[in-house]
Amino acid sequence: MKNILKTVWCLLLILMLIIFVPCLYAGNNSCTGCHEKQNPGLVADWKRSAMFEKGLQCDTCHGDAHTQSDDSAKAERPSIVTCEKCHKSQAKQFREGKHALCEEALTTGNMSKKMRKKAPDIVEKSCAVCHLTMGENGGQCDACHTRHRFSPDEAKSPEACLPCHVDNHPQYESYYNSKHGAIYSAEGLTGRSPTCATCHMYKGNHKVLTSWGFFGVRKEEPDKEHAKCQKGVIDYLTKLGPILAPNSHRATLAEWQDLRNDMLDICSGCHARSFCRTELEKSDQVLKKANCIANDIAIAAGRLLESGEMNEEDLFWLFRNEVHAWRMGLYINAFHQYPEGVLKKWLHLQKVLRDISKTSNKD
Ligand code: HEC
Ligand code: HEC
Ligand code: HEC
Ligand code: HEC
Ligand code: HEC
Ligand code: HEC
Ligand code: HEC
Ligand code: HEC
Repeated sequence: MKNILKTVWCLLLILMLIIFVPCLYAGNNSCTGCHEKQNPGLVADWKRSAMFEKGLQCDTCHGDAHTQSDDSAKAERPSIVTCEKCHKSQAKQFREGKHALCEEALTTGNMSKKMRKKAPDIVEKSCAVCHLTMGENGGQCDACHTRHRFSPDEAKSPEACLPCHVDNHPQYESYYNSKHGAIYSAEGLTGRSPTCATCHMYKGNHKVLTSWGFFGVRKEEPDKEHAKCQKGVIDYLTKLGPILAPNSHRATLAEWQDLRNDMLDICSGCHARSFCRTELEKSDQVLKKANCIANDIAIAAGRLLESGEMNEEDLFWLFRNEVHAWRMGLYINAFHQYPEGVLKKWLHLQKVLRDISKTSNKD
């Protein structure tokens, strides 16, 4: 008897499901109706966003042309052009900064051309991820406050910058291993310790640009010895290609100084101005050392090229793998206060110079 009852109940339940489920779908054929089932994680993120609370809908950003399971290609792919309709100031600032040049930086220069020809599939999952996610259509705004949560707190965390500013451009590691990073690790976003955004996007300014820039050279250099080293560095960078990237170095000393003064204003919020100036000047000296040792390596390599012991291709990969990122890492670690990182990069460059000098002085 019990079993018959159970079977009846089960049959009833199945009947109810057969009747109600299609009704549920039919009555909920909206964006969220479908996507809550297809991608519950995505919709849950959206429901935690301030924009959801203000009543924005999926179609505000994706349009309303796609309404069926098989026409998803009609959905618009939002870019900075979508966001700037409502966030004019952030979009304007973003476009004035270096992030808006990500795509151009990638498409100019020998390094990119070489890599694209040799290994396009590698470029697709490496260079393009860091450079194009923010470059397409002039910028992708979800690079730091990821979709569909769009959280300013996430963007303020150093982890938001981590996927791109890492390893060859070791800003994350150096920050993480500094006193600033240590306090952030211990206390979180309390504001006591600066995060990347405090120093580079002060008060939410979306224009990112630093005085020395990535390449650590400037067009006007009053220190003669340093000017000579910088010229050597520019020569080898021209061979590698990336020096041709847009706005890669500041054109005048005044422009450089303005950006330095802005940075000093930020540090001074928490430290004595003189303390900060001294710390930054110590790092300027490390940068000079980095440029001069790279120049010495370039001179020694030039001799090998002349004597035929090295060809252009060997030279390219020597700079790419043993000099380029190490030179920059050296001052990146200094500016971000990572002592062990400074030492490690310096020792490596010294070894490269020693090895290549031994070879180039063989005769
Ligand atoms: C009938 C169910 C259904 C409805 C209604 C629906 N979608 Fe979709 N949507 C889908 C399916 C299925 C896909 C494809 C998923 C996949 O490829 O795995 C999709 C894909 C998408 C994509 C990704 C497109 C791409 O090519 O990358 C977006 C964006 C999107 N939908 C937004 C919307 C918006 C906005 C609405 C409302 C205007 C909406 N959807 C309505 C089922 C639906
Ligand atoms: C504030 C703008 C905005 C709103 C509102 C919005 N999206 Fe998106 N959505 C984006 C952005 C930006 C992307 C990334 C586009 C790209 O990289 O090409 C995206 C990508 C997607 C994708 C494809 C990528 C993936 O992760 O699968 C789907 C699907 C999608 N959105 C669905 C939705 C749905 C469903 C809603 C409503 C619940 C919604 N979106 C609301 C901005 C928005
Ligand atoms: C139709 C107008 C509109 C569009 C388009 C739009 N937003 Fe918004 N956004 C808003 C409104 C309204 C708020 C809430 C502002 C507030 O509460 O002060 C907001 C808030 C935000 C916030 C802050 C959220 C918070 O928790 O404080 C971020 C980040 C954001 N939007 C990013 C984006 C991005 C990225 C895009 C494009 C993919 C975009 N928005 C497109 C209107 C829009
Ligand atoms: C992990 C993410 C990532 C990858 C992978 C990556 N880049 Fe970059 N690239 C960056 C970041 C971040 C910067 C700026 C760093 C800085 O200022 O210290 C940058 C800077 C550059 C610049 C200099 C731009 C300028 O104006 O100063 C060029 C050129 C460049 N990258 C080309 C490439 C090429 C070519 C590849 C692939 C072979 C590549 N990048 C791979 C993140 C990446
Ligand atoms: C490099 C990372 C990064 C990118 C890319 C980025 N943002 Fe932001 N965004 C931030 C940070 C960090 C904050 C938090 C600033 C603060 O509160 O100090 C923020 C905050 C915001 C806010 C909230 C402002 C407020 O006062 O509440 C909006 C709106 C916003 N961003 C829109 C955009 C738009 C539009 C784009 C594309 C043009 C964009 N963001 C691209 C890092 C980024
Ligand atoms: C305490 C302030 C501070 C913090 C925190 C900080 N930076 Fe920096 N950053 C600097 C200074 C100072 C420079 C050198 C500026 C110059 O050129 O004079 C710099 C330079 C840079 C540069 C240009 C190339 C270079 O020399 O490294 C990038 C890119 C950068 N920082 C990204 C980041 C990222 C990403 C984070 C977080 C992981 C971060 N910074 C954290 C102060 C800071
Ligand atoms: C999707 C990858 C990506 C993310 C995320 C990202 N960046 Fe960048 N950033 C880049 C690339 C690529 C460049 C070099 C662009 C160029 O030179 O044209 C760059 C350049 C910069 C520069 C300019 C350095 C100079 O040469 O003057 C600063 C500063 C910077 N980023 C800070 C940040 C901060 C702070 C965050 C996090 C809040 C962040 N970035 C998040 C990829 C990224
Ligand atoms: C939001 C506040 C804040 C900002 C902004 C800030 N710092 Fe700090 N910094 C701290 C705190 C807190 C410590 C830990 C002090 C200690 O070691 O006792 C610290 C530690 C340091 C240290 C190592 C400790 C020491 O006494 O030698 C140096 C160097 C430093 N900061 C330099 C800078 C520079 C340069 C800038 C600007 C580029 C800067 N800071 C911006 C809060 C800040």
